Amino acid sequence: MLTLFPEMFPGPLGLSLAGQALDAGIWSLETIQIRDFGLGRHRQVDDTPAGGGAGMVLRADVLGPALDHARTLNPEAPLLYMSPRGAPLTQQAAHAFASGPGVTILAGRFEGIDERVIEHYHLREVSIGDYVLSGGELAAMVLLDSAIRLLPGVIGAAESLDHESFEHGLLEYPHYTKPRDWNGHPTPDVLMSGDHKKIAAWRQAQSEHITAARRPDLLHSGTRPTPAKKP
Ligand code: ADE
Repeated sequence: MLTLFPEMFPGPLGLSLAGQALDAGIWSLETIQIRDFGLGRHRQVDDTPAGGGAGMVLRADVLGPALDHARTLNPEAPLLYMSPRGAPLTQQAAHAFASGPGVTILAGRFEGIDERVIEHYHLREVSIGDYVLSGGELAAMVLLDSAIRLLPGVIGAAESLDHESFEHGLLEYPHYTKPRDWNGHPTPDVLMSGDHKKIAAWRQAQSEHITAARRPDLLHSGTRPTPAKKP
């Protein structure tokens, strides 16, 4: 993780599921302080944009040596740059990151980074949504969390991943627990019927209904896998 704010890590990834997996050695994280590669007595990392305008841009002659160093730590890992210009992070991408050799992530600050760094290192730009954060660190944590929870041994029962939103190209069906009646809102009868076939069919219908209402784009995205047949 290349950042100007290594103190932000592991942050929330040190708690809960990801934190337990970190303690168990299922995943690990190394931060690289970009400023260690800064120039001069003040360890300068940024400068004014060529052509003028507001903000500051991270310098190529600082990021280059920082990325060279990062590559020696995990030469196989793809080089990612968190950016609102990037390809949207998807569950499919999270699976690919989780089954790969790890990732090297560059988190930018300020207006951005010198474009030549992206070209020279073939940085893969990844966005976590159509909004702008003040830096790539939180976006990197989102990417890492989405992949870490898919690593073997992080979530106990494989069952709990299988029905999740996006795993079959649909949003997840609603959940209920006790009490049977709460403030005049009953649990749907079908869930109390004990008929597992009927329950599965109801959940599938709920998933399709909720997806059609909230995210019709998912139904027509062509990314829906055919449901796996249960043995
Ligand atoms: N950095 C700033 N905004 C971002 C976003 N939406 N996704 C990824 N990285 C970012």
